[in-house]
Amino acid sequence: MKAVLDLVAGARPNFMKLAPVQRAVATLGAQDFRIVHTGQHYDADMNDVFFQELGIPAPDFHLEVGSGSHGAQTARILERYEAHLVANRPSATVVFGDVNSTVACALAAVKLGVPVVHVEAGLRSFDRTMPEEINRLLTDAVAELLLVSEPSGVANLKREGVSDSKVRLVGNVMIDSLMGQLPRARERGAAQRLGLAPKGYGFVTLHRPSNVDDPAVLGRLVSLLQELSRELPLVFPVHPRTQNAARKLALQPGLEPGQERLRCLGPQPYLETISLVADAAVVLTDSGGLQEECSVLGVPCLTLRENTERPVTVELGTSRLVGNDVALIRAAFDDVRGGRWPSAREIPLWDGRAGERVAQALADWLAR
Ligand code: UD1
Repeated sequence: MKAVLDLVAGARPNFMKLAPVQRAVATLGAQDFRIVHTGQHYDADMNDVFFQELGIPAPDFHLEVGSGSHGAQTARILERYEAHLVANRPSATVVFGDVNSTVACALAAVKLGVPVVHVEAGLRSFDRTMPEEINRLLTDAVAELLLVSEPSGVANLKREGVSDSKVRLVGNVMIDSLMGQLPRARERGAAQRLGLAPKGYGFVTLHRPSNVDDPAVLGRLVSLLQELSRELPLVFPVHPRTQNAARKLALQPGLEPGQERLRCLGPQPYLETISLVADAAVVLTDSGGLQEECSVLGVPCLTLRENTERPVTVELGTSRLVGNDVALIRAAFDDVRGGRWPSAREIPLWDGRAGERVAQALADWLAR
């Protein structure tokens, strides 16, 4: 009988990672698989639209956990995924990235003796105030097979004493989605539809607690964006977390739709986002995925964080860490505008075929 894999996703950045793995596992045909959606993200524009655009089949199981505090959300996922495992035990559970769904499902599985596979293992920001860093550390601590996207991840796991036999450098599955969908995304011409010329605008995303939860910080960043947008129009799809924070702060009109030069939109579909990023002159973001996508697309990326768990995007890619210091962001923005920015170099194994390597690693590991 074939082994059965649970492929688990919960939040938006998981979907771009799951899609190529699901496709490659189906093509290789060595195992059966089921898609389990925890429901951490549930709005249609954070969720359904990604499944449609990325061609992911509808989930076989949906745990419908919804939002909550870290403890409440993680606990709900743990409890509901455990019940699912008891009723439908898989041969292994495959989790992606670093969201609460990742750690909760890994923990539920390992406690029932179901082996855990972590895709995007080994990344470390060394900043334990980030919820994602805790999720990464705990997930890697219980995983049996650790599939890594960049060399720093292999070094981190080695330093933490993880046996080499559990670790494989497979490359970046998110880049498979980017490369696969780029031609369709370019056809969208999202910038032109907004009346913006290619390379004639910047693209912004902000959703990290460190940037949006503190009113003083968010207020400062919004003022800076307004100032920068007077020099270069900015497109800013506002994450629900940021929307909520801005509303509480009464940061209107700072972040309201309909402004001429700081264009605030709702969360955007995948193809629309890629279209806007590919044509942007500069990206300002605190997202992990965008640092990677910019590095492959060759778009300068100002990373509004003090650290990154993806150092290859700084070493070989187009990202520079600027934190949330207004002067540093301003200086980096001026460097981009003045053409003082390194070009992207090729990143090993970010070649659009990482999903195939994941599927092969899974097949080899299950057959061992
Ligand atoms: C989560 C991940 C983060 C990832 C981000 C991408 C964790 C700890 N964080 O952060 O690593 O970069 O997703 O988006 O897992 N909300 C909605 N609709 C939704 C989902 C959320 O309105 O479909 C709102 C709710 O008010 C919720 C808030 O957004 O309380 C935060 O959602 P949550 O999933 O807890 O964390 P994110 O900030 O999205």
